[in-house]
Amino acid sequence: MFLAQISDMHFRSQGRKLYDFVDVNSCNADVVNQLNALEERPDAVVITGDIVNCGLPAEYEVARRVLGHLQYPLYIIPGNHDDKAEFLKTMKPLCPLLGDDAENMHYAVDDFEMRLLFIDSSLAGESKGWLTDNTLAWLEAQLVQGGDKPTAVFMHHPPLKLGSAQMDRIACENGDKLLALIERFPALCRVFCGHTHRLIFTQYRQATITTIPGTVHQVPYFHENPAPYYNLEPAACLMHRLIEGAGLVSYLHSLAHYPGPYLYNTAISCPVDGE
Ligand SMILES: [Fe+2]
Repeated sequence: MFLAQISDMHFRSQGRKLYDFVDVNSCNADVVNQLNALEERPDAVVITGDIVNCGLPAEYEVARRVLGHLQYPLYIIPGNHDDKAEFLKTMKPLCPLLGDDAENMHYAVDDFEMRLLFIDSSLAGESKGWLTDNTLAWLEAQLVQGGDKPTAVFMHHPPLKLGSAQMDRIACENGDKLLALIERFPALCRVFCGHTHRLIFTQYRQATITTIPGTVHQVPYFHENPAPYYNLEPAACLMHRLIEGAGLVSYLHSLAHYPGPYLYNTAISCPVDGE
């Protein structure tokens, strides 16, 4: 299994920029082309929410067009910036597993040696996240059914506070319900989120809990200052690869443009000074 996880694309309507100056549509098209050009091609691309910025139909039209160029199966879930109904309407052609119920979007992927469970943690009209009774019941049933097969959950909001003054206020408010499932089901060993626009990881029992950067704009991590800062530091995504003997290995993959790659050359490496 080899997955590319991207997040928080915040598409805008045709011709519009994020905050009137950040060209998210162009940057996201660049990201799609970078992913299509990967030498080692992932089995699928996962997008952990905030597909668009304002939940507008015109934004989803751009998202559908740009994401439609991705040459991989897509697993998508909504975030707090998404409108559930518009999200389902435009994203289902790209991700048929989303089903038909905008209020209860969740699905399992059983194609790999690791089970992948996708849930919707968004709460209409709110920035914070919430896991509904329906979502929790479905998740529990899936975990029972999965037995001891290693399992990863993908959701937009982190299920616990990560010490970020800005983002902790809008984490998943009842994420403790997911933590309780981690306690009960040892096979649940990974939780991958978006929302924080930053690579952050922590551990709860056997589960590594990770949030990943956005495809365009990022959020600085301040423990004390809750001001809603964002910045344009280089974007990145996470690659997840199952490695025999090690399990799931996840690594950062830059989406910025930079010099290289270069091939290491022993003839011009240390020790050469003085020759
Ligand atoms: Fe976001």
